Amino acid sequence: MFETAAASEKPDYALLARQVSSILEGERNLTANAAQFSALVYHSISDLNWAGFYLCTPANHPTPEFPNDLLVGPFQGKVACARIPFNRGVCGASAAQRKTILVEDVHAFPGHIACDSASNSEIVIPVIKDGVLYGVFDIDSPRLNRFSVEDQQGLEAMVAAFVAATDLIA
Ligand code: SME
Repeated sequence: MFETAAASEKPDYALLARQVSSILEGERNLTANAAQFSALVYHSISDLNWAGFYLCTPANHPTPEFPNDLLVGPFQGKVACARIPFNRGVCGASAAQRKTILVEDVHAFPGHIACDSASNSEIVIPVIKDGVLYGVFDIDSPRLNRFSVEDQQGLEAMVAAFVAATDLIA
């Protein structure tokens, strides 16, 4: 049985990226790997109240620019908003711009979607393989300014290990 280390303020991200590869080795299923990845992140980084995936799905109200919505996938934390259009919130912005968005204070981010009123800072990393966007990985913290550039780089490396280990579904 895999034992995660105690949640840390400054996790060893190089070790965590290797753990992603070793935990997911031998299984490429999206749901299983996304669930395992969410659990590893949630229990390895201190001061989190949500960590999980929003995955691309056909939009309820598609436009030529945004044919997809984001639909909640495997996660750890409280019940969350199910569906987010590409032009809404931090997750939608990350999906639309295809880049990581680090928010020091979610209350100052225009259009932030408050799924859990405890959240004060947030980081969202896009899940991209071979130029195709499959969704985003979203992490919330009750602490203001929880995520540093080091966290961003480490989490991007973890998501890259997840992408390499998983058969993604568009
Ligand atoms: N706060 C996010 C919505 C998802 S929840 O935080 C889990 C946003 O603004 O996109």
